[in-house]
Amino acid sequence: MSRLVIISNRAPSVDGASDSGGLVVALKDALSKRGGLWIGSAPAASEDPSQSIIMHERSDFDIGLFELEPQLQRDFYLGYSNSVLWPAFHGRLDLIDVQPDYIRAYREVSKRVARMVAKVIGDDDVIWIHDYQLIPLAHELKKAGLTNRIGFFLHIPLPDLQTFRAIPEWKDIAGWLASYDVIGFQAKRDVAHLIDIFRHTLNGELRFNGNMSIDGKEISLGCFPISIDVQGFAAMAAETSRKVEPPALPRLIGVDRLDYSKGLPQRLAGYEHFLESNPGYHCKVSLLQIAPPSRDDVEAYKEIRAELEAITGRINGRFGTVDWVPLHYIHRSLPRNELAALYRYSRLALVTPLFDGMNLVAKEYVAAQDSADPGVLLLSQFAGAAEEMKEALIINPHDPQGLAKAIRRGLEMPLEERRERHEALYKRLADNDVSKWSETFIKQLELPVSTPAPEAMP
Ligand code: ADP
Ligand code: F6P
Repeated sequence: MSRLVIISNRAPSVDGASDSGGLVVALKDALSKRGGLWIGSAPAASEDPSQSIIMHERSDFDIGLFELEPQLQRDFYLGYSNSVLWPAFHGRLDLIDVQPDYIRAYREVSKRVARMVAKVIGDDDVIWIHDYQLIPLAHELKKAGLTNRIGFFLHIPLPDLQTFRAIPEWKDIAGWLASYDVIGFQAKRDVAHLIDIFRHTLNGELRFNGNMSIDGKEISLGCFPISIDVQGFAAMAAETSRKVEPPALPRLIGVDRLDYSKGLPQRLAGYEHFLESNPGYHCKVSLLQIAPPSRDDVEAYKEIRAELEAITGRINGRFGTVDWVPLHYIHRSLPRNELAALYRYSRLALVTPLFDGMNLVAKEYVAAQDSADPGVLLLSQFAGAAEEMKEALIINPHDPQGLAKAIRRGLEMPLEERRERHEALYKRLADNDVSKWSETFIKQLELPVSTPAPEAMP
């Protein structure tokens, strides 16, 4: 069997300490079964970076790290990746910060990584590149003479053509994507956007099998919704919850990196409206919002943090009493088992992104529930997860009144309906867990290119 090489900006830790992250769990099996290598950026920037991949052997698979100097790292990661591509791909053109140094660094990182990677790749290796930070990598690897099959998975949404064209380098990005053999997305909506982008930008033609043909080259596109280790997460939630006390009041929960794409102010506006229009619920429920810091050197992230702190203060000041805090806000990461127990003890989860690739929190919440007395998931229509999780209460985060009504409906939903919805959601999750996601993508990457991918045509 050929070796699998995963390349992503974030790599698992060399000592295996952070292996609980979704992506590592997903790929660990595939990597260790067939012999594998995971390449990612070194955790700290170096003033004198090595020009080669630094290899570390683990018992299950190898890890290769590339180093970058601090300025290049900043312009590449905080700059182009997270101040241009992230906001643009999430439809927030008002937040993009276009700087010549950023795109220079972005191109330079893929060029450099390609030079280093080319030295450690074997002829039969299957290469799978992840996410928006490294889109030009296949183009650079092919320029360096590699003929291996190369796949790409985008973890975040792909915007529509009009939004995409606001990125100054949109034509380059389309061309870089066309260098891959297989491109996977979270949702059908993203596949549709790429078809449109390829048609418009590169005269791509959609073939009967769902592939795109560009200048005689066939590219396989498909929808591969990512998932979680469903059974593992469910077992962890059941076990940890036995060791902690349930909350005194029915709890609503929100768990998100503190990111402007997650619709946090909109969520809190819905909760505020719920409190305003349902005085009977005062002192009877509370909302726990856990939002750990993320990319906090980027201005837009500083702003969303300040905004959230102000709204939290306003809601607690307006509705709180000496004995009741309506909104608890925690700006920290928690151990995954604690998080799992918190989900299990929450009557309602609020997942309200304005645009999201998938949203794994929605899946974790469902997996963590007690099937005898499950809680209710409120899920934004703009999360990739909404394409699959139809038994959730689907909400529009821009509508505070609608959100307030859905909160009340969720809190008052009869047990039988909660069970029915949860059973359907859990079954679909369990049938499509994260190992199935990685196996399906890898299989597609190894098949002849003319084989249709799952949900090739939206
Ligand atoms: P994104 O990839 O944009 O951050 P997802 O919802 O897909 O969004 O994934 C977020 C992951 O981060 C989930 O696995 C979630 O459990 C984890 N996470 C979010 N907040 C915390 C926190 N405070 N502590 C620990 N893990 C967290
Ligand atoms: O899921 C999208 C993503 O950007 C991943 O690529 C990334 O690892 C994760 O979110 C967290 O973001 P970051 O690596 O910037 O902390």
